[in-house]
Amino acid sequence: MTLTQMRHAKLWFAGQTANWPLAAYELDELREGLQDVATFHPTHKDATLPIPALIEKIMTDPVQRVEKAIGARDGNGFTQAFDALTEACNACHRASNFGFNVVTRPSANPYSNQAFQP
Ligand code: HEC
Repeated sequence: MTLTQMRHAKLWFAGQTANWPLAAYELDELREGLQDVATFHPTHKDATLPIPALIEKIMTDPVQRVEKAIGARDGNGFTQAFDALTEACNACHRASNFGFNVVTRPSANPYSNQAFQP
């Protein structure tokens, strides 16, 4: 999840600078990370459903929305889709009895050693 958090932040800053190839890459990595969670951590003690089912149910639609916005190079659409994705992260945290862990839009870029401008 720490890697997921990193991808989530980088995705945001790539989208904000309209660096669409980087945003597409970060979204792909985020999706792969979620697949790894499903494969390697299929159950969680407090989750309401098996982890792969939760990911499928909660994340599929928001991830596709972000993908569409990136494909369309649509900055406003990206922002909306990103917020929906973030809300989905939190929905899964609530569904795994981890609702006190709330993720948000990043407010500052912690990755000063990477160029986000295209
Ligand atoms: C399968 C449901 C699920 C989804 C989807 C999910 N998470 Fe999580 N997340 C968890 C669970 C469960 C934990 C607690 C892991 C543990 O028990 O160690 C967690 C932990 C975390 C943590 C805390 C890590 C730490 O050590 O501080 C962060 C940050 C986080 N998730 C971010 C995200 C982000 C960002 C997304 C969306 C891009 C996301 N998560 C999507 C279930 C999910």
